Amino acid sequence: MAVLSDLNMNSENYSDVILEHYRKEAEEHGKDASSTMRDEITRGREVASVLRVLEFLKSRGAPVTNVLDIGCGNAYLLEVLRKNHPSIALTGLEYTPEMVQIARDRGVAQCAIEQGDVRALPFGDHGFDVVITERCIINVMDRAHQADSLRQVARVLRSGGHYLCIEAFTDGLSELNHARDELGLPPNEMPYHNLWFDKPWFLEVIAPDFEVVDLSPHRDPTLPGPNFLSSHYFISRVLYPAITNRPIIYNTHLVKFFSFLPPMGNYAPIQFYLLQKK
Ligand SMILES: C[S@@+](CC[C@H](N)C(=O)[O-])C[C@H]1O[C@@H](n2cnc3c(N)ncnc32)[C@H](O)[C@@H]1O
Repeated sequence: MAVLSDLNMNSENYSDVILEHYRKEAEEHGKDASSTMRDEITRGREVASVLRVLEFLKSRGAPVTNVLDIGCGNAYLLEVLRKNHPSIALTGLEYTPEMVQIARDRGVAQCAIEQGDVRALPFGDHGFDVVITERCIINVMDRAHQADSLRQVARVLRSGGHYLCIEAFTDGLSELNHARDELGLPPNEMPYHNLWFDKPWFLEVIAPDFEVVDLSPHRDPTLPGPNFLSSHYFISRVLYPAITNRPIIYNTHLVKFFSFLPPMGNYAPIQFYLLQKK
């Protein structure tokens, strides 16, 4: 798989790479849940975690009336949100024109789909109670632009509002690759169309605008922590290839069987941060 350095990427041309990647994804996967995510367990955990956190916020009296999904892709998550929350105002924002079209064609009730860019959101300040990004800002392949994007998220959130940040981090990849190396497996690479967050960088960039909400004191395994996919990644990206001598094959019996495991360790790049706007 190509990595960023092979492509000699710079901030002027990465947008073309992204638009082409997601144009093809839209063409191949249409409205399916598999669009942008072949791994059913990862997709299921992401969606279940978003639903669980919204319930949790409501139960604590936090407003969840006006939700924005940035980089909404084909609007799969927005449709699930609509079924579970008939009365909240939903908005989707998407960059790739072919994805925008599919999202609009899905026809989620009372849900505007806007074409736009997380680097310069086409919304006023403080308009949303909740913002979600599900693997979006990792496609902004320039650290300064990623920082701008995180500040844009803060700008459109009201004070006290929440950001459900599902993005990929290099510490999870590094830990995963240590485990793979121990079993004689080659390292996994960051995909050519992504720039994953470094944890110290991320925590420093969000610090002026957000508090990290630690859900672990609630001792509720259904509330996601950053490592919500860790055990799943260990089974699917370390154990499965080690015992079968095959590369990862998604959605196998073995991997589904072990999906009951609670999250342990830090083996998943995709992580869930609940952030509260100061
Ligand atoms: C990995 S996909 C995830 C899509 C959707 N959240 C899902 O889970 O299926 C990333 C999405 O972000 C969109 N995207 C990429 N760059 C963007 C940008 N600068 N602003 C807004 N969306 C962007 C892509 O077009 C793509 O649909």
